[in-house]
Amino acid sequence: MADLHIEALDMINPFVIASSPATQGARNVLKSAACRPGAIVLRNFGHGTGGGSFIYPSADAMYKGEPAFHSHAVGTQLPDPVNSLEKYCEEVKTIKKQMDKDIKLWVSLGHYSDIVKGGDWEKEWKQQARELSNAGADAFELHFNTPGVAVAKDRQFNYYQLVASCTKMIRETVKDMPIMVKLAVEACDPLTSIRHAVANGATAVGPTARWKGFHFDLDWKQTQARPGAGYGGTQATPIVCYTVSEARSKGIDIPMYAGGGVFSYEQALRLVMAGSEMVQLGTLACSGGTMACANLMRKFESWMDDHGYADMKSLTGDALKLFSMDGEVAKNRQNRLGTAYKEAQVDIKKCIGCGRCKDVCWHEGIDLADRKAFKTDQCIGCGYCFQVCPTGALKIDQKGILASSLCEESK
Ligand SMILES: Cc1cc2nc3c(=O)[nH]c(=O)nc-3n(C[C@H](O)[C@H](O)[C@H](O)COP(=O)(O)O)c2cc1C
Ligand code: SF4
Ligand code: SF4
Repeated sequence: MADLHIEALDMINPFVIASSPATQGARNVLKSAACRPGAIVLRNFGHGTGGGSFIYPSADAMYKGEPAFHSHAVGTQLPDPVNSLEKYCEEVKTIKKQMDKDIKLWVSLGHYSDIVKGGDWEKEWKQQARELSNAGADAFELHFNTPGVAVAKDRQFNYYQLVASCTKMIRETVKDMPIMVKLAVEACDPLTSIRHAVANGATAVGPTARWKGFHFDLDWKQTQARPGAGYGGTQATPIVCYTVSEARSKGIDIPMYAGGGVFSYEQALRLVMAGSEMVQLGTLACSGGTMACANLMRKFESWMDDHGYADMKSLTGDALKLFSMDGEVAKNRQNRLGTAYKEAQVDIKKCIGCGRCKDVCWHEGIDLADRKAFKTDQCIGCGYCFQVCPTGALKIDQKGILASSLCEESK
């Protein structure tokens, strides 16, 4: 069995149940612990206990990794009974007493609305840091993710400065405590945000993608419940993967716990292979519960076994080979595919003369005669016509061509 242990933070596995309704208060943290993740982030206190996800077009599509989005803010917002630091510390103590000792408890510190409210929030955050550390938290999480932070004070603050000064302030307040800095990849340039967090003492960074979104059906019948709520979904994963891989290729070497759109083990694997040691489970934990999380973890592990990855170290960042592919290899793959498109001829038996290929060719590389298409010597091999041909009269083995070029390279 693959070893899922995360050495840098001594976690039993890379999965972090992210701050959300699934981690609201001791009761829900203890419930989430049933799937035995590496860490659970206790949600902020005193800011209401609402939150459900509006999923479109369906949860089924989302679990298959197909394009689908979710947004926050379904369900009644209830007042949070844990509304003082004292009560919040009690929650931490209860969790530490009752939860399996090998699951880490990360505790959310501060809240963007404190900044919006004004007052002496910095003093309050420092006090929180000291008392939560004494109460037994294993780490702090600072939230600089959307939708909250991105809209606080109508964006009238400098995001980088906020990340830098808050991280520094908490680092100076509790010197030895791990500080996890959760960032929004879409708020600003993500690499710059990560660099600010690292320079000011973050232990790990958690890039995650949630936007302010506005999706609506034209008849408004299935329009998301509240326009502008945190908008995420399967489309987020490639964006976060890029952020992670760019950070790794630019020398960021502290642990990462990326998140966004992870509804199946494949997406979790992608984030890890892009270079993030850990993975946040957000909406999956809320909408699929502990069983869905446990299922994902099981499949993640068996995929590693089936593909010869013995431990997390060997898996983490493995896809960076692709990201930093030698220029010649990349060119070879691109050319090989282009040549195949260029050389492939129309299968006359399958051609129905619909003309879609000609319509989409911007180079006069294909024409029609007697209701049959034929290639001309103007074809540059861009591949557009192959994508629109409805009958397979234009077809190449794209997967095979790309795979064979890589196999040759690794010989
Ligand atoms: C209903 C809901 C409420 C959330 N509330 C918070 C929150 O209070 N603080 C926070 O930092 N992140 C919050 N998140 C974001 C998650 O912690 C996590 O970063 C994100 O959901 C990961 O993306 P995913 O949902 O696509 O997995 C929330 C997510 C959901 C689904
Ligand atoms: S591959 Fe591109 S250039 Fe060649 S025929 Fe098709 S659309 Fe035209
Ligand atoms: S799109 Fe395909 S079927 Fe239609 S004319 Fe072109 S080659 Fe023939």
